[in-house]
Amino acid sequence: MSKSKKLLVIGGCGYIGSHMVKCLLNAGHDVVVLDDLSAGYKENMLGGELVVGDCGDRVLLDRLFSGHHFDGVLHFASLIQVGESVVNPAKYYQCNVAKTLTMIEAMKDHGIGALIFSSTAAVFGEPVYTPINEAHPRQPINPYGMSKHMVETILRDFDRAYGFRSVALRYFNAAGADPEARIGEGHEPETHLIPLALQAALGKRPALKVFGRDYDTPDGTCIRDYIHVDDLADAHLLALEYLWNGGASTVFNLGNGEGFSVQEVLNTIERVTGKPVPAEDAPRREGDPARLVADASTAKLTLGWKPQYADLETIVQHAWQWELKRG
Ligand code: UFG
Repeated sequence: MSKSKKLLVIGGCGYIGSHMVKCLLNAGHDVVVLDDLSAGYKENMLGGELVVGDCGDRVLLDRLFSGHHFDGVLHFASLIQVGESVVNPAKYYQCNVAKTLTMIEAMKDHGIGALIFSSTAAVFGEPVYTPINEAHPRQPINPYGMSKHMVETILRDFDRAYGFRSVALRYFNAAGADPEARIGEGHEPETHLIPLALQAALGKRPALKVFGRDYDTPDGTCIRDYIHVDDLADAHLLALEYLWNGGASTVFNLGNGEGFSVQEVLNTIERVTGKPVPAEDAPRREGDPARLVADASTAKLTLGWKPQYADLETIVQHAWQWELKRG
């Protein structure tokens, strides 16, 4: 393990950010979390110091960056609802682009040059081929995906102009929870398949709506690549170490490289929980590509990343334990 470092985790009280905090603490690092608590919860922090504030507040950032010597920043704070981004793009560009630009400019001015940025498979838009590697064309079809693509572009230009080093990680479908069920997924409102289906199985929600059974896939439902949130966190730490070891700015796709249809996910949930998932057919959801599967071989090769929980059963099992625990 490398010497203990100090990291700023922006959005460390959210779903993926809180698993990142756990991973950094387990690796022996010091963690400061900056979170405005708009979508995260203090209780999700398993340790570290919390600063409540806005990541677009330059005065606050100057204070933080002058008061601590950070070896890197991990930026998770963003709005994530594709549908909302279509009806309210201003909100998405303001939060996901403008605030991020303020933040990375502050990093640059304070000489902090290791940023890990949360990007998304939504930067690709409709897949032209599958599995999707890093070189796949980026043609986002909604403002959410575009906002992440814009930040990736800003990071590329910051590297060229200022030597600012970063890694953007494009997540496919983050899922699962802490194997000890201390933290897990909990969005408000929840829009993601696995938590919604688990809550429907528990009778906490009405029947799950299956958005489209007429896709060009074997069972007609959409195919996604589900990746365990702890495996995502591991990739972030490896990406930081890559930058600390002098690695060049880059992007990596993160997924398991295996696709599961909505129906296969529901079948797995029924097997794992032993409960039926009440479900009903519904029209397609706008902006859902039929199939999104990652080619993550570059991250595996370059970072030595090896997902530990690569099977869907384990991912669902951990999500289920968390769902039972949160009640
Ligand atoms: N789905 C349903 N019913 C639901 C919820 C989802 O059928 O109630 C389906 C969706 O249509 C999709 C699949 O289940 O086919 C997965 O949907 P999620 O909402 O769980 O995840 P997405 O693939 O839409 O979204 C994920 C991330 C987003 C990101 C996107 C990039 O969660 O933040 O990938 O493509 F923008």
